Amino acid sequence: MANLVKTGISGLDAMLYGGIPEGNQVIVAGGPGAGKTLLSFEYLYRNAKMGFTSVFFALEETPERVLENAKSAFPEFKDIDSLVKAKKLIIDGEDPATVLHSSTSDDNSSQYEFGKVVADIESTIVSTKATRVVIDSLSVFEMLINDPTAYRRSMLALISNLRRLGVTTLLTAEMSSPERSRLRFKTEYFVFDDIVIMYEKGEEEKRMLAMEVIKTRGTKHSFVTTPYDISASGINVLSAEEMGL
Ligand SMILES: Nc1ncnc2c1ncn2[C@@H]1O[C@H](COP(=O)(O)OP(=O)(O)OP(=O)(O)O)[C@@H](O)[C@H]1O
Ligand SMILES: [Mg+2]
Repeated sequence: MANLVKTGISGLDAMLYGGIPEGNQVIVAGGPGAGKTLLSFEYLYRNAKMGFTSVFFALEETPERVLENAKSAFPEFKDIDSLVKAKKLIIDGEDPATVLHSSTSDDNSSQYEFGKVVADIESTIVSTKATRVVIDSLSVFEMLINDPTAYRRSMLALISNLRRLGVTTLLTAEMSSPERSRLRFKTEYFVFDDIVIMYEKGEEEKRMLAMEVIKTRGTKHSFVTTPYDISASGINVLSAEEMGL
């Protein structure tokens, strides 16, 4: 069996029965504001603290904003700056406006822009020797490549590149609705090794955030819908497995 890569978020590791099989490509999908960016940031922060070089590719906001938001959401992560300084935690990015603007609407130009972003991601991984990676988010690729078949093919290419590099990656994707009942799985999700979804549950005042592991390739996982919250000390996943229920 493959080594397991801990996310460092203990409740999530319990849902994953130990962690993500090393080298797997995980899609973290969810509604707007569900905490996808913060959860993936915490994964890298925890792994950087464990000594693994970690790279965050910001494709939705600037790297500066990602850092600012993470620091403000997680005031108890005191050593973010020192990990960044030590190049254990690397926040890189590409301005989505530039990517989208450089591409005219024809397919060749979109593929070219996509290829350029992927090549940049690859070269940063190689030059930093990173083993833990986040790509936040896939939306820019979706906007760039309109044709669903071409998009799916591009995702396969991206994943096979990441696999070849041996990195364990979280890739975030936006789902149109924050609610579970309205979430629709897009076919391209199934090209990923693991699928985690984050969404809102309940009605009116009883709304809460919950996550589910839909599949993990090569290992067992929890089937329990699990509540979580975003706290100053990180994402708290109230896993039944962890609480021994
Ligand atoms: N400084 C903060 N303090 C407390 N909670 C915060 C803070 N910043 C963000 N949050 C919480 O985190 C949520 C946003 O987290 P995050 O940016 O990770 O979501 P996301 O799923 O990536 O959203 P998007 O779809 O916009 O990319 C907010 O809805 C809020 O509940
Ligand atoms: Mg986000």
